[in-house]
Amino acid sequence: MAVSLEELLSQVDATMRGLTGARTLDALAQLKSKALGSRGFLRAALAQMRELPTEERRRWGQELNRLKQQLADAFAARENEIREAAERKKSFFDATLPGIRPSPGRLHPVRLATRRITDIFVHMGFDVFGGPEMEYERYNFDLLNIPPYHPARDDVDTFFIAEGIVLRTHTSPVQIRTMERIKARERVIVQMISPGRSYRRDRPDATHTPMFTQLEGLQVGEGITMANMRWVLGEFARQYFGPETRTRLRPDYFPFVEPGAELAVSCPFCDGKGCRVCKESGWIEVLGCGMVHPQVLRNVDIDPDRYTGWAFGMGVERLAMLLYQIPDVRMFFENDLRFLRQF
Ligand code: PHE
Repeated sequence: MAVSLEELLSQVDATMRGLTGARTLDALAQLKSKALGSRGFLRAALAQMRELPTEERRRWGQELNRLKQQLADAFAARENEIREAAERKKSFFDATLPGIRPSPGRLHPVRLATRRITDIFVHMGFDVFGGPEMEYERYNFDLLNIPPYHPARDDVDTFFIAEGIVLRTHTSPVQIRTMERIKARERVIVQMISPGRSYRRDRPDATHTPMFTQLEGLQVGEGITMANMRWVLGEFARQYFGPETRTRLRPDYFPFVEPGAELAVSCPFCDGKGCRVCKESGWIEVLGCGMVHPQVLRNVDIDPDRYTGWAFGMGVERLAMLLYQIPDVRMFFENDLRFLRQF
């Protein structure tokens, strides 16, 4: 026998030790070929068996098979370990590195102003209603007492979509829709606002955009007078612009109210003393309003001899501009993150 059992066992031992030290699949493959390969020491020991007597050959055979199996198992296990370590390294997570800050979205200033105004009216007991942005001409104009020859119906101001259908030019049609729905009740009581998008064919400039947000309100009931209007709108102005705010009503014309008025607030920037924002007048016009025209009530089958009401409408962009001191309405629509991130 060229190789004794002791020598063989010490070779196996050395291989097992080398195996734990192997860190790469390449190093492991080399070691494996030295042990189990066609020129490996196990093969060599196997080759010697032929010269042995039968009895001993069997013992050697069993011993060699056992060693071969032991080595094969050890190599397979180590190979697995190396692969797993490589995987772990690839997905290594360093918990001490500074994280990537999530950048949360935020609300658009027009949305913020809409919510603020809406909250004020909701706390005074007004309900919030919406309606379609594509609206029947009948709801946008006729039922609001805007006759066919009225200049606002001219296609200079209105986007016509199809026969009898327009992009609503204000949110007043929501008032019609609301009154139509409640008219069947025994007693008519309406307290609602309708914030939403409106469209007019305006050339964009510092104070106009073809799409804008309007917020209208309506109160209808028995014994409702202009005093209700004056108090509610005054209270709104104080809550929105500050408790010292004074309000001023001046006659104005809208086909769906009579009398109609324009509400101005004392300039919140100079306290009414006169500045650039109020053009030295001390007053800023913020909304249109008036007592609901009897014809409009009749149009929705509400008896104007029994019920009266008042309505108002304001441009939310304009109110947001005043609140946040924004000089140009187009800034709301430019999607400049440096602007939007300030709110
Ligand atoms: N709907 C009017 C507008 O578009 C505003 C308004 C509403 C005026 C209600 C008076 C009463 O300007």
